[in-house]
Amino acid sequence: MRFDDTLTVDEMNDAEREAVVALWTRCGLTRPWNDPVADVALAEATENAAVLVARRDGRIVGAAMTGHDGHRGALYYLGVDPDQRRGGVGRALVEAAEGWCRARGAPKLNLLVRAENQAVLAFYAALGYLPTDSLSLYRTLDPDRAEQERAQKAAWAAAIRR
Ligand SMILES: CC(C)(COP(=O)(O)OP(=O)(O)OC[C@H]1O[C@@H](n2cnc3c(N)ncnc32)[C@H](O)[C@@H]1OP(=O)(O)O)[C@@H](O)C(=O)NCCC(=O)NCCS
Repeated sequence: MRFDDTLTVDEMNDAEREAVVALWTRCGLTRPWNDPVADVALAEATENAAVLVARRDGRIVGAAMTGHDGHRGALYYLGVDPDQRRGGVGRALVEAAEGWCRARGAPKLNLLVRAENQAVLAFYAALGYLPTDSLSLYRTLDPDRAEQERAQKAAWAAAIRR
């Protein structure tokens, strides 16, 4: 999908996996309890998900993961290289994800933003996204992984407080 003379968004190709994970890491989107390499592999293994890559003059400048569960579309790992922000790349990636989900019959796109992340909330508000009245709940399905995740989250929270 072409957005202007220099900016395109398309599905990731095999050679771009590492660069995309490195970009998400630079954007601060990864956490010790989420493995982006495994997340990309899972997205590639199903028809219901895709990793979208924004390229300016052929160079990777942003990426996001989208998918649908047969009911709603979802957006994860939206990140734009710090030196490429405020140039429409984030908007292009969201529009490409919307198009991907719309083409598969998903009528809505859901995403999560931390309540304290005012800059990203302003970005999504500019794109027409509305807050919900719901809280997002989750459960880690593997008990060993749940225990490991509890410890990783506690260590992360302690490191941020320091
Ligand atoms: C959020 C993010 C993807 C936005 O990407 P971007 O390419 O800078 O966004 P765009 O240039 O397409 O912005 C579109 C509009 O959103 C709004 N916007 C974007 N960033 C904003 C900010 N920091 N503060 C307020 N409004 C903002 C503006 O209205 C902007 O239009 P304008 O530049 O003409 O004023 C980028 O800042 C990013 O990668 N952040 C770090 C990763 C992250 O937190 N991702 C979201 C996880 S939930």
